[in-house]
Amino acid sequence: MSKICINIAWPYANGPIHLGHVAGSLLPPDIFGRYNRLKGNEVLVVGGSDQHGTPITVTAEKEGSTPEAVAERYHQINKKAIEDMHIEYSLFSKTHGDNHIEVVSGIFVDLLKKGYLYEKETDQYYCAKCRKFLPDRYVEGTCPKCGAKDVRSDQCDSCGTTFEPGDLIETRCIHCGNEPEVRQSNHFFLKLSAFSDQLMEYVEDKDHWRSNVNTFTMNWLKEGLLDRAVTRDMSWGVPVPVPGWEDKVIYVWFEAVIGYLSTSIEYSKMVGKPDLWKEYWKNPDTKHYYFIGKDNIPFHSIIWPAILMGAGDLNLPYDIPANEYLMFKGGKLSKSRGGAIDIPAVLSEFDADAVRYYLSVNMPDTHDADFTWDDFQTKINNELVSALGNYYHRCLSFTHKNFGQIPPADTEEGAKEVIDAISSTLKEYEDCLSKCDFKKGIRAVMELSRFGNRYFDSVKPWALVKSDKDRCGRVMNNNLRIVKALSVMAWPFMPSSSEKIWRYLGYEESLEKSGMAAVMSELPAGKAVDEPMPVYKKVDIEIPEEDVSSEETAESAGSFADFRKLDLRVGKIISAEDHPDAEKLFLLKVDIGEESPRQVVAGLKAHYSKEQITGKSMILVSNLKPAKLRGVVSQGMLLAADDEGLGGRSVQLLRPSKDVPVGTKMNSGTNNSSAEIEYKDFQKVKMLVSRAAEGKILCNSMKIDLPSDAPERVAVIVDGDKAMALGDGKGCTATVDHDIMDGAGVR
Ligand code: MF3
Ligand code: ZN
Repeated sequence: MSKICINIAWPYANGPIHLGHVAGSLLPPDIFGRYNRLKGNEVLVVGGSDQHGTPITVTAEKEGSTPEAVAERYHQINKKAIEDMHIEYSLFSKTHGDNHIEVVSGIFVDLLKKGYLYEKETDQYYCAKCRKFLPDRYVEGTCPKCGAKDVRSDQCDSCGTTFEPGDLIETRCIHCGNEPEVRQSNHFFLKLSAFSDQLMEYVEDKDHWRSNVNTFTMNWLKEGLLDRAVTRDMSWGVPVPVPGWEDKVIYVWFEAVIGYLSTSIEYSKMVGKPDLWKEYWKNPDTKHYYFIGKDNIPFHSIIWPAILMGAGDLNLPYDIPANEYLMFKGGKLSKSRGGAIDIPAVLSEFDADAVRYYLSVNMPDTHDADFTWDDFQTKINNELVSALGNYYHRCLSFTHKNFGQIPPADTEEGAKEVIDAISSTLKEYEDCLSKCDFKKGIRAVMELSRFGNRYFDSVKPWALVKSDKDRCGRVMNNNLRIVKALSVMAWPFMPSSSEKIWRYLGYEESLEKSGMAAVMSELPAGKAVDEPMPVYKKVDIEIPEEDVSSEETAESAGSFADFRKLDLRVGKIISAEDHPDAEKLFLLKVDIGEESPRQVVAGLKAHYSKEQITGKSMILVSNLKPAKLRGVVSQGMLLAADDEGLGGRSVQLLRPSKDVPVGTKMNSGTNNSSAEIEYKDFQKVKMLVSRAAEGKILCNSMKIDLPSDAPERVAVIVDGDKAMALGDGKGCTATVDHDIMDGAGVR
């Protein structure tokens, strides 16, 4: 068991935190903290609101308010948002607090005594019109290095260069637009140059740092460290603890980073163990992790270590897993449903675990990631709900219905395949999480859920329960072992849903307490399994109009006309293999009566096993322009019905209702050509599957002509208020094998 200190970048209390903060620096440490707690490690998690500096004063001026009011208001809002996201801190503190100010003053005076701080006349921007000194953000201009416009006067966000007063060109005062002058002002400087060698030595063995952190830091060090002013001409901030300096405050970055230490001390006092923090900050075996966004790198890899070295005898950062940015595409996000990205708004629409899932699989860890609501919806519906949620639910509800309790374990031999899958997933998972590779970690978990779905399908418990209930119980025990393993490994990512699944398995002790060992352990056979509720639900987001490309909104010639262009053929799947590079895709060989079979890449792995899909009759769109899917050419597309958009859980291949030869055209007798079409042409055809009765489709009451021996469920093409059955025009229609919701879309 070891001790770990998790330090989380302090969001400025000048606005509500949004998805970018969560993906960038708040969620990763929570995953890491929870993972370590599962491993039995002792974890201290510290951070809080960054309440000083110009970001706060600028906002206060904009809002016609005071810095105190702004800083306190957003501190409360963000504290709650963080709790609502289930991000757990030992203590979420703030910088405008007595404890923090006391600790900062102590360190300032200490460094001053040791000669690491010294006074110097400096150049400072001064606005003659406003009659005041202008700190960083009150001056904007053009970056002399990269030419970026409207950059702040302390750092260029485009190229990362930091500035001293006078460096920026084409400057203006943000109050009045006047060009400020540069005047002399007295300030304290941190003697960064004194730490050059020590810092070089410190960075040298950090082979485990991410390359963005390493490169940035090395470049800084190589350029030579300049001493930096650590006081500012303003009144909002931590007072300079030196007489005569009442009109200045400590620079926000210098004091905010000290917050990691001050909060550890504050927490120790709070829990009545005033020396506890020393075990984290003075015991060299305790590793310190700092979770930050990339714009914070030099403050954490150079300035903070220098302060710590100056103070002496305190642990330096062990790892600084800085994330890149989450980019919001489609420009401004509209106010329509699902538009806002601040956490209170997001959580009013979606569950925290769904948001956490999406931000985990789309984490900007090694490069920027794009955020779109479209992608959010796809990943929640097609991954979280369809793979993981579906597996949880089918296992638990089947067990509840047929056994009411956890059935006895299988023999070792029978369970081998399952136990092997769990243990290799666990190995991969631990390897990723211990290195802060969270995106890969969650992928391993999802892959196990897909394995689970395939296993479930292959053992066919629904049939087995009738023929051999005892055996069925044993295979369900295997399934539930996978469910348990998934819930434990998913917990750091999605804590509340995972805990619910854990409870369905009959455990009384919390998942966290049971720890990582629970991944491999046996189940509590005989414990009651209550009727489960699905833990994840589909989302249905109205995508703001500006997100929809003009192509898709272009007028269409009508669904029937587009349908005529499809060359649909009955075919038989003669073989199924795994795609070499894509975990979700099958490589199928499909016979449609041509000389050689077609190769088709299909994303059906979550729904069919190889054995199930091989030999099936189906309907192929045979004149789609061949497309490469993850490096493999697909010569067509299978039609499948999908009720997931309706809140259902079924994806099924369409098949001909009668035994017609391969190659039969299924264009309902409409004249079609075999000319190549684009995928977007196919998308214009509106097809669905529904039950029909008395000449009407049940899902939308449209009239339809059907052969008298038509199956219960039929695939139809809809155009305006008209509908037509998909078929060969001679009595063979298209249908599905199992129950599906009326109105299921065809894709
Ligand atoms: N408030 C800063 C930002 O949002 C981060 C400060 S992290 C600190 O970029 F702890 F160093 F202060
Ligand atoms: Zn001005």
